[in-house]
Parts: sequence; C-alpha cells; structure tokens
Amino acid sequence: MDKLIIEGGVSLKGTVQVAGSKNSLLPILAATLLTKDRCVIKNAPDLRDTVSMLKLLRYLGSNYEFKDHTIVIKPNGTEKVEAPYKFVSTMRASFCVLGPLLSRYRKAKVSLPGGCVIGVRPVDLHLKGLAKLGTKIQVKEGYVHAETRHLKGDHIYLGGPFGSSVLATGNVMMAATLARGTTIIESAACEPEVVDLARFLIKMGAKIKGEGSPCIEIKGVKELHGVEYEVIPDRIEAATLVMAAAITRGEVFVKGARADHMMAVLEKLKDVGISLKILKDGILVKKTMRKFKPFDIVTLPYPGFPTDAQAQFMTLMSITEGISVITEKIYPDRFMHVAELNRMGAQVKREGPYAIVHGIKQLSAAPVMASDLRASAGLVLAGLVARGKTEVSRIYHLDRGYERLDFKLKQLGAKIERAKE
Ligand code: UD1
Repeated sequence: MDKLIIEGGVSLKGTVQVAGSKNSLLPILAATLLTKDRCVIKNAPDLRDTVSMLKLLRYLGSNYEFKDHTIVIKPNGTEKVEAPYKFVSTMRASFCVLGPLLSRYRKAKVSLPGGCVIGVRPVDLHLKGLAKLGTKIQVKEGYVHAETRHLKGDHIYLGGPFGSSVLATGNVMMAATLARGTTIIESAACEPEVVDLARFLIKMGAKIKGEGSPCIEIKGVKELHGVEYEVIPDRIEAATLVMAAAITRGEVFVKGARADHMMAVLEKLKDVGISLKILKDGILVKKTMRKFKPFDIVTLPYPGFPTDAQAQFMTLMSITEGISVITEKIYPDRFMHVAELNRMGAQVKREGPYAIVHGIKQLSAAPVMASDLRASAGLVLAGLVARGKTEVSRIYHLDRGYERLDFKLKQLGAKIERAKE
C-alpha cells in the first residue's frame, strides 16, 4: 500500500491539466453493453475505478484496449449476465450494468453494492425504476435477480429522501433506451455526468430529450450502434486542483476546468475571497494574500453544492479564521475526515449532519489515514498547508478517483512524495 508524504507551505504555481470525468466514464462504460458494436471512448481517466469497471466488462464478455486515455471496447458475444460481488463490492458504479444487461438480454444477476464508509447507500430507486419498466425483481443472497419478457416504457418518479439519484437515473435511462414505448423519468438527476451519459446514448442512436433537467423523456429504439465519444472533464478533480492553488495562495491555471459545471463551488470560493478568472479553456486561480472569510455550505444535488467537494472545503474552512458550518444533505454520515483533520489541529465538531468548523491560523502536520476518496483529497489539501511533514496513508482511495494527483501537485511545485507503507 502507498502513502503520501507532504511537506506543507509551498505556494503552487504553473499549469495543470484536468483529467476526464470518472463519474461520466463509469456509467458510459456500462452503456457499451447496450450494443454489439465497437465503441471508442476518449479522454478516459486512468484510474483504479476505470480498471475495475473494465475488469467487470471483460468478465461480462467485452474485449477492450486502454491506451493513452482512449478505450476501445467491443462485446465478444458471450452474453454473460451476472456481475459478481467481487466486482460490484469494490465500486458502486458497477451496479450500473444492471440496466444495460436487462435491456439487452432481458435478464441480469447483479450483486448488491453493499455498505460504504460514507454511509448507507441503498439502491431502492434503481430497483423501483426498473420494476416500473416491467422487470420482475427479487433480492436473494445479496444479489438482485432481474428478469423481464420485454421492457415497456412508463412514467417513473425517481425522487428519494435525499433528492434525485445520479446512478439510478443513469441505470433507468440506459434500460429505457431499448424498451418498447416512451419512458418519462421525473425527479431525474441533473448532474453534468447524467447529461454526458445521455449524449453518449443519443450518439449511439437513443432518443432522449430533457437531459440536464428533472424530467427526461426516452423513446425506446430497436437497437443502438457503436460510437466514438469524448467524456467531459472531471469537475470534482478540477475543484480540488483549484482549491489546492487557492489554499496555498498560489497562482495556477487549471486547464480544461469547465466553470459552467462548477458554479456552486466557484461562487463559494469567490465569497471566501479567492480571485478566479474564468477563461475559455480553464480557470485561472490568482494569487491572493487577502484574509479568507468564513462561510457556510449546504450540499445538495446539482446544481447545488456537490457533496464530493465537501471534504476539500472543510480543509479550507479549517484555516479560515472564524466559524464556518457544513450541512451535509446527501450523505449525512460523510464526515470520516473530521477526526483526521482534528489530528492536524483543526477544530471541527460534528453534530449529526452538521459540521461546525472553528477556523484557526495554521494546521500542523500529523500522520493521517484516508477513509474514502474525497476525504483523501481533503487530507492532501491539509498536508499542503500544514506546518511540517504530513503522512497520508491508505491512499488507494485517492487512486480510485484521481489520476496521479500527487504527480500533478508536484508539477506545480508541491513537496509531495509517494512511498510504500
Ligand atoms: C454519485 C456519484 C458520487 C456522488 C453522488 C452524489 C458516481 C459514480 N458517483 O453516486 O460520487 O457522491 O452521486 O452526488 O457517479 N439514494 C437512495 N436510494 C437509491 C439511490 C440513492 O436513497 O436507490 C440516496 C443516497 O443514499 C444519497 C442520495 O440518494 O443520499 C444521492 O445518491 P446518488 O445520487 O444515488 O449517489 P450515486 O449515484 O451512488
């Protein structure tokens, strides 16, 4: 297992390129099961999650090649319909093969994704949507057994207690592409990754309208064909890089960052006192020595503030003098990073879905442990500004979703090393 050793105190400087979006790519890979043709996917981030998804697709009978951020993938005709626990347990997005398998082969057996360190993550909305399309669903021994004579379009409400669901919208949308008749998804997720998936499907020949709004209409077609497609830049990686620059009071051009996908994050950063310039091909973080102002965030479905940037913002709050408050409305238990940040001197108190942050002047280095993907990013940011050498262990979480973050930060001047634990 690897760890990162970070010596804090360097202001980052230079240009850094944002990778393709992980959360776009994973469902798009699942969508390749909807055709017998070859698909070419460009701008694919080179991540552990990408490799995990490709392994599952190979198990399901697809041949692929992954080189220079391009994936060429084609089902080899074996028509396997079972996604075992060992694949789905490592990554929740692999549950997204359920919709495409069902749509293409009318039958699927997919392991339940199971528990997760950021809290309970049910799949009831996925199952409700697929059942509405005419699927018989049984959950037995940790597996979803799904079967249908044919999928039939329907009017589906997909809202849950925490609002819309990104992957449930994707799963149902994929299943509906080859269903008979028209499907309307109400309370659909509006995230840019859902739009990206819809555009991929449209390019494959699907008839979809309303993507990016809470009401998506899908008219079933007979078959989908192979395509060449480029995934959007990763807005969460972009936000993390922008914050790395801002928090170290550096000057960095985050190339490829799509400001139009990051409005909630960028507005907050401006409120805090960070100078940003939105350019055609990215975001320039300008050096500022201004005192940061305390602020509050409430995580919400898109276009609200993303829960995936919550941990990184907690680090910023930790070194912003005054009181800041986080209200976590998507995953009320997503606070594993609190204890670790506090080990670095932060003063964060958790009360249910709230975190109250009493900002201090400076964090101090400590050995800390990454608990999940975004928490890891928050701890790396903390390491960049702490006094001394911070060791972040268990960074395999980070490698699941960030393409060589340590390398990118090093290119910007950070003192960061990867070592074996
Ligand atoms: C996706 C993202 C993840 C992000 C999350 C919320 C991918 C691969 N992952 O995860 O990075 O943190 O969106 O923006 O795209 N819920 C239910 N029932 C369900 C499904 C979800 O109650 O059947 C709840 C969840 O527990 C959560 C909320 O709905 O409270 C939103 O979750 P959801 O949008 O489904 O998250 P994912 O799609 O799994």
